[in-house]
Amino acid sequence: MADTGKDIKKAKQLLEAGQVIAIPTETVYGLAGNALDAHAVAEIFRVKNRPSFDPLIVHVPSFHVVDRYTEEVPSAALQLADAFWPGPLTLLLRRKPIIPDLVTAGLPTVGLRCPDHPLTRELLASLDFPLAAPSANPFGYISPTRPEHVAQQLGDKIPYILDGGPCSVGIESTIIGFVNGQATVMRAGGLKIEDIEAVIGRVDVRDVSTSNPQAPGQLQSHYAPRKTLIVGEITRLMKEHASRTIGTLTFSRATDAPIGVVLSPEGNLEEAARNLFAALRTLDSSEAEILLAEFVPDTGLGRAINDRLRRASR
Ligand code: TXA
Ligand code: MG
Repeated sequence: MADTGKDIKKAKQLLEAGQVIAIPTETVYGLAGNALDAHAVAEIFRVKNRPSFDPLIVHVPSFHVVDRYTEEVPSAALQLADAFWPGPLTLLLRRKPIIPDLVTAGLPTVGLRCPDHPLTRELLASLDFPLAAPSANPFGYISPTRPEHVAQQLGDKIPYILDGGPCSVGIESTIIGFVNGQATVMRAGGLKIEDIEAVIGRVDVRDVSTSNPQAPGQLQSHYAPRKTLIVGEITRLMKEHASRTIGTLTFSRATDAPIGVVLSPEGNLEEAARNLFAALRTLDSSEAEILLAEFVPDTGLGRAINDRLRRASR
């Protein structure tokens, strides 16, 4: 069983020995290994049971190291890193050969991100390599936002969980690619599209509802609980499924279902994002036979929340 603790030196030693550990970020916990070591990267795929066509994000201590790993940085990427790093923003940039093929699934770009968590920033600054890290959950399941989520599912497969407490953002980073120079949102996430547009102007948004071979993480079924989750108008859904034990997930108002989680009683989208994945886990392990959820307002972080709800549902 994995040890859990706040020992950065221990984390560093394990990573330097080529091992894979869990690290906290402000978005979700990551399953981290030396991004420049193909063996460590292969171990990440193995532990997570992740198909090798799905590329990994590489975590760096600061923007200063980016030119070690990338060929060229569009000016919009520079502006975004300047405005939002450290933070919940991943930039897809043309990679140098030093990044192993396995990290990028053979794609010409690498996803880079500087996470905003004090423990992980200190850890990254102490290492002479960057960390490849997908979310620390078995492939396709709900992302972990607390150390105990990692322990429950991957605790017997890794030696250490660096405990950074609950994640402050709670939803994965926003991924921006540059398609013919045009900034394009490949995954809505913890950085609002409105905030991005305030810095670089209008961005394109990939239709995440369709299967998108450029971003395999956008697969239809992802972030999914084991139980069936249906998203829609909650009162109608409750009537339709009245014969079963219902668990509801609502934005700000409780339902009269026997089991229910409210994401934010005050109707705050930041709070809702922070609570989303833990709420799905609670409902998944409850007595409920079927999970019913409603969409949240589709602005700010609501876009990322609704994207996760759509893909967690079936
Ligand atoms: O907030 C986050 O981004 C978290 C924390 C741990 O940093 N990480 C995360 O990683 O969500 P993961 O592997 O669960 O999702 C990353 C997604 C992949 O599924 C893939 O679709 C996309 O990022 N991705 C990574 N590199 C890419 C690339 N070169 N081109 C297109 N998509 C890429
Ligand atoms: Mg993930």
